[in-house]
Amino acid sequence: MRDTPDLWPIDLQTFLQDLYDSIQSNGFLLTVFRYKFTEPEIALNSLNGKPFLNNTELDSQNVGFRHIGAKHDSIGSVVHLFRNVSDYPKIPDKNNIININRDYKQWFGVLQERLIAANDADNQTDNVWLIANDSSINGIIGLMNCLRLEPGGGNWRYIFNYDSTGSPMDIDFNVSPYSDILANDLVANVVKEGKVGTYRHLRLPTDYDKCLSNDYFLNCGQIKDISGLQWYDLKNMPKIKHDFDDKHENHVKTKVEIYYAGVTFRDVLIASGRIPAPALQIVPDCTLGFEICGRRLDNGDRVMGFRMGRSIVTSTHINIKNITTVPQHWSMAEAVTTPIQYATLYYGLIKRANLQRGESILIHSAAGGVGQAAINICRHYGCDIYVTVGTEEKKQFLVKEYNIPVNRIFNSRDILFKNQIMDATNGKGVDIVINSLSGDKLDASYECVANNGRFVEIGKYDMFQNRKVGMFDFLRDIQFIGVSFDLACLKNPDLIQEYFDWMHKNCSNGCVKPINYTVFNASEAEKAFRFMTTGKHIGKVVIKMRDEEMDRQPLKAIKPAVDMMVTVKTYFNPNKVYIITGGLGGFGLELIHWMQSLGARKLVTTSRSGLKTDYQKFLFNRFHEFGDNLKYYSSEWLVSTADCMTIEGTQQLLKEAQNLGPIGGVFHLAVELNDRLFKNQTFDKFCSSIDTKHKIFANLDQLTRKLDYNLDYFVVFSSISCGMGNGGQTNYAFGNSMCERICEQRRNDRLHGLAVQYGPIGDVGVFEGMAENIALSSLAIQRIHSCCDVLDKLLAINTPIVTSFAFADIINQTISSGSKRQRIVAKVWRTLGIDPQSTPIDTTLADIGLESID
Ligand SMILES: NC(=O)c1ccc[n+]([C@@H]2O[C@H](COP(=O)([O-])OP(=O)(O)OC[C@H]3O[C@@H](n4cnc5c(N)ncnc54)[C@H](OP(=O)(O)O)[C@@H]3O)[C@@H](O)[C@H]2O)c1
Repeated sequence: MRDTPDLWPIDLQTFLQDLYDSIQSNGFLLTVFRYKFTEPEIALNSLNGKPFLNNTELDSQNVGFRHIGAKHDSIGSVVHLFRNVSDYPKIPDKNNIININRDYKQWFGVLQERLIAANDADNQTDNVWLIANDSSINGIIGLMNCLRLEPGGGNWRYIFNYDSTGSPMDIDFNVSPYSDILANDLVANVVKEGKVGTYRHLRLPTDYDKCLSNDYFLNCGQIKDISGLQWYDLKNMPKIKHDFDDKHENHVKTKVEIYYAGVTFRDVLIASGRIPAPALQIVPDCTLGFEICGRRLDNGDRVMGFRMGRSIVTSTHINIKNITTVPQHWSMAEAVTTPIQYATLYYGLIKRANLQRGESILIHSAAGGVGQAAINICRHYGCDIYVTVGTEEKKQFLVKEYNIPVNRIFNSRDILFKNQIMDATNGKGVDIVINSLSGDKLDASYECVANNGRFVEIGKYDMFQNRKVGMFDFLRDIQFIGVSFDLACLKNPDLIQEYFDWMHKNCSNGCVKPINYTVFNASEAEKAFRFMTTGKHIGKVVIKMRDEEMDRQPLKAIKPAVDMMVTVKTYFNPNKVYIITGGLGGFGLELIHWMQSLGARKLVTTSRSGLKTDYQKFLFNRFHEFGDNLKYYSSEWLVSTADCMTIEGTQQLLKEAQNLGPIGGVFHLAVELNDRLFKNQTFDKFCSSIDTKHKIFANLDQLTRKLDYNLDYFVVFSSISCGMGNGGQTNYAFGNSMCERICEQRRNDRLHGLAVQYGPIGDVGVFEGMAENIALSSLAIQRIHSCCDVLDKLLAINTPIVTSFAFADIINQTISSGSKRQRIVAKVWRTLGIDPQSTPIDTTLADIGLESID
C-alpha cells in the first residue's frame, strides 16, 4: 500500500484499488467517512486550500467491492462495510434450501441429514440456506446461532422474512432483496419492513436506566459505599390498600409531600456498608432515613414525624400516628432537626435513665445533633453539664452558643477526658453519660459513671461489633442502657404519640429547640453524606426537597419537587396477581422472594408436579408463616398444576389467578433442557424443549390479550444461548427465539413484552454447580442477586429483547497474558473453577489437594 505523510492529497480511487488488491477474496473493508462537516472543520480546511474528501465520490463498485451496508451517526460520520466478492455465489439448488416453519417434522430430519453430510464433507459443501418465511414468530435466529457452532454448520446461511404475513412464498434469488442477499454471502439475513439487516447486540446507552422525575427517594446502590447512593424513581409505586404494623393493626395513612428530610449517622453507616440495615426494618428495600417534614396532601397542614426507611424522599404515604403538626414558630427546616434527636433523648434519657433535676451529666460529641439536643434538655433540667467535642471549632461553638465554660469541654478524640472528668467531680464521676463514642473511648466513658449512675449508649457501631463491657462496674450499681428508639416504637407504637405530646409541651420553654443545621439540595445528597463523615460538621444535616412557602398556614397548592434524572425502579402491585411459570425452579424461588420485597403479595406459580422437594416446601411454608407473623407481608401463593401447554390448561391457570385478583404480569421461567448436538437429537426431545418455551408463552399471550385490561409485565427468561449461540442447545434457542419474537410483536401492539437473555446464573437453577463448564467459555457466572438487580431496571425500559451476562474479562486477561507457563497455570485454575486472579502464584495443585488429573 502506498505510504503518504499527508492525508489530504490521497487519490481516493487509487487508494481503494490498493485496498481491494490487498484484501483476500470474501474479505471485508470497513471505512469511516465524514458526510458533513462542522464549522471549525470547514474553517480549518479553507486554510489548507484543499478540496474536501466526500464519501459520495467513493466509487467502490468500479473497483470491485460490494457495498454491504452503511450506518450514519448524527454528528457527521458514516461507516461503510464493503466486501471483496470475486466469485458471485451461485443460486442454491432446491436440495440446499430448507424451509423452517411451524411444522418441525417437515424439516427436522432433512436438517439433520444435511448437517451430518456437511460434517462428513468437512464443510466442503455448497452453502445450505435455511429460510423462514411463514410467520414473524419463528425461532430461526436462535436455531442458526447454535447450528453454526456445531460440526457441519460452518457454511450455512439463513433468511428470516420477518414481513411475511403467513402465506409461504418462494424465495427468488434472482430478484432483490434476495439477489443482494445471495451476492453479499452473509450468514444472517433478516428482511424487515422491506430492508435487509441482521440482529446485533448493541450496548444500552449509559443512562438507559435513568428517567426524569419529580418524585424520588434516596437509596444505596449496588456498591455499599457512599458513592453508590442514588435517587430512585417513585412515580410508579402503587398505593397499598391495606398496610399493617407488626401488631397486625391496619395503618390509617395519609400522603405527605416532603420538604425536608434529616440525615442521621445511622444512614451514613448503612450507606457506607459499615453496619447492616436494622433487623426489624419493615421496608426492606430501602433503609435510609427516619425523620421527615412536609405538608399533608389532604389538608395542607405542615407536619413532621417519623418513617422508618425510604424516607429521604419527595413524598410518602405515612401512618397518621407517626406525624404531628409543626409548631407555628418553627420553619420546616428547623422542625426536621428535632424528631430523632429529641425522641431518642426523651426515650433514653428521660424515660429509661430517669433524668433528675440537678444531676451531673457527660455529653459526648456535644456539637452534634443529639449532643446539642441533650444540652438543651439538660439545661432545662438544671443539670451539671460536661461535654466532649472533636475540634477546636466545635469547642468555640459550644462556648458561644451554649455558654459552656471551657474547663468543662474535653476532647473526644482521646481518652484523657476520663481523668479530667474524675478531677472535675472529685473522683466521683457523673450521674449519667450519654455515649456515642466507640472503642477505648467507650471504655473510658463507662468508667466516668458515678456509683448508682447510668450509661446511656446511643451509638450503634460497637453494638454491631458486639463489643464487650466489663461487668465489674455493675457492682457499683450502675445501669447500662442501650437505646434503640426504632425498636422501642415497634414494641410500643404509642411511644411516638407520647413523645409528640412531650415535644409540644416543651417546644416553647427552651427544653426542645431546633438545632443549627446545614442544608443540602437533593442533587447534593452524596455531598451531604460525605460531609457527615468528615467529623467537621456542627449540628444537623438536612436534605431539601423543595422550598418552604412563607405562609405557615395550611396550603393545598403544593409546589412539586425539582425535576431530576433518577434511576428507574420496578414496583409490584400488592393488589395484583403475578404468574410465574416454572416458579418452583431455582430462579423462580429467588424471584418470588425478590418480587415480595418490591411489593408483590399475590403469586401463582406453575409446576407439573406441585411442591416436591423439601426446600420448595420449606420456602412455601416460610412464605406463609412470615405473613402470619407480620401481616404487612401477608401474601397468597398458589401452586397450580394446570398444563399450560394446552389452551384449556392455560385458561384454568388464568382462572385460578383471577380468583386472587386482577393479573399484573406473567413471568415465563419454565424450561426443559434436552441438550444434545443436533446430529444426535431426537425429534421428541427437540420439540419438547421448544414447546416448554414457546407453546406456554404463546398460550399465555393469546389468552391474556383477551382480558379487559393490559398486563403490566409480560416477560420471558430467555438465554444467551439464543442470542449468541451455544452448540448443543438448538431446541432451547429455537424456543427462546420464538418467545423473543412474541415480545417484539407485543411491543408493536403497545403491550408489555420483555425477553431477557441471561447468561449462566450462579447459586441456583439449571447451571448451578456447573461452574467448570462455564469456566471454559468467555462468560462468567452472574450472581442471582445481580440478575434481580438488573431485572429491576430492565422491567422499566421499552426495549423488547435485552441481554444480561457477566464477562469473564479479567479472568481471560490472565489466561491470555503473561508467560506461557503462567497462561497454562491460569487455564488450569480456570478449568477447575478457581479464579486465577485470586489464587496466589506460588500455590501448587498439591496445595489444593489435587495431585493428579486423570
Ligand atoms: N439458570 C441459568 O443459568 C439460566 C441461564 C439463562 C436463562 N435461564 C432461564 O431462566 C429460567 C429459569 O431457569 P432455572 O435455572 O430456574 O431453571 P430450573 O431450576 O430448571 O426451573 C425451571 C422449572 O421449569 C419447570 N418445567 C420444566 N418443564 C416444564 C414443562 N413442560 N411445563 C411446565 N413447567 C416445566 C420445572 O418445574 P416442575 O418440575 O415443577 O414442573 C422447573 O422447576 C428459564 O427460563 C431459563 O431458560 C436460566
